[in-house]
Amino acid sequence: MEITKDTCGIFVGGASGMCRATAEQFAARGGKVAIADLESSKGAEVAEALGGTFHACNVMDYDGMEQVLNEAVGALGGLHFLVNTAGGGAATRTVNKNGEPHPLDVFQRVIDLNLIASFNINRLGAVHMAKNEPNDVGERGVMINTASIAAFEGQIGQVAYTAAKGGIAAMTLTMARDLGTIGVRVMTIAPSLFETGLTAGIPDEGALQLTKDAAFPKRMGKPHEFATMAIAIFECAMMNGSTIRVDGGQRFQPR
Ligand SMILES: NC(=O)c1ccc[n+]([C@@H]2O[C@H](COP(=O)([O-])OP(=O)(O)OC[C@H]3O[C@@H](n4cnc5c(N)ncnc54)[C@H](O)[C@@H]3O)[C@@H](O)[C@H]2O)c1
Repeated sequence: MEITKDTCGIFVGGASGMCRATAEQFAARGGKVAIADLESSKGAEVAEALGGTFHACNVMDYDGMEQVLNEAVGALGGLHFLVNTAGGGAATRTVNKNGEPHPLDVFQRVIDLNLIASFNINRLGAVHMAKNEPNDVGERGVMINTASIAAFEGQIGQVAYTAAKGGIAAMTLTMARDLGTIGVRVMTIAPSLFETGLTAGIPDEGALQLTKDAAFPKRMGKPHEFATMAIAIFECAMMNGSTIRVDGGQRFQPR
């Protein structure tokens, strides 16, 4: 889809990192932006700088997200682009060194935050997109979820995160098929380590160690590199139903 002054995007997790960079690139090309993020985030500041609106939310409040999306769509006047990066993991092994099993509530929370919340946002967002007039090639909207390369080669202690991100990757094609009849495309981006709020605590030495098995470049990704991929997906009508690694050729080792 083309980005014009009437193209509307909601950026969930858009107060920081990769989603913020995507909102910035989208706004720089003329699109209208709504940022949805935690109340405690810098969402209001980011939205103001982009001439957009801020909508405080918690993606784990599944019912509340319906109202948040309604408000954001109301403020924008429509919805064509929905990007979601809200998520995160837990560092817990299936059985820990003391012989204790992975707490099930921790596993459940990671699934809820990443997989269930993403699907909730997608199903609600698609209803709004279905109301759009299709463009000249029949497109009504584009949704992008965020997985991780841990969806494919999770490291020791990432079992919940891998299950959640693997679920996001797995549902991408099925959802694209479900929504094909209404001209809504669905894609997932699987980043390697990126320099964002989530990884801000990793020292330079640690970052070198964590990216040493990348092909090139051997460094953490920059938020604008995620954004460039997200915008390319939005603009290219043939991008649909798959998960794209943005990882410098990195394959995570077991630890
Ligand atoms: N940074 C990395 O190295 C990396 C690598 C692979 C995958 N990811 C994925 O990217 C996403 C994180 O994005 P980022 O790296 O740009 O981090 P970030 O912390 O800079 O941005 C994430 C944004 O999501 C918001 N958020 C978190 N929980 C939320 C909730 N419950 N409701 C609403 N908003 C919430 C945060 O407030 C923040 O603004 C996660 O899904 C993570 O699994 C990150």
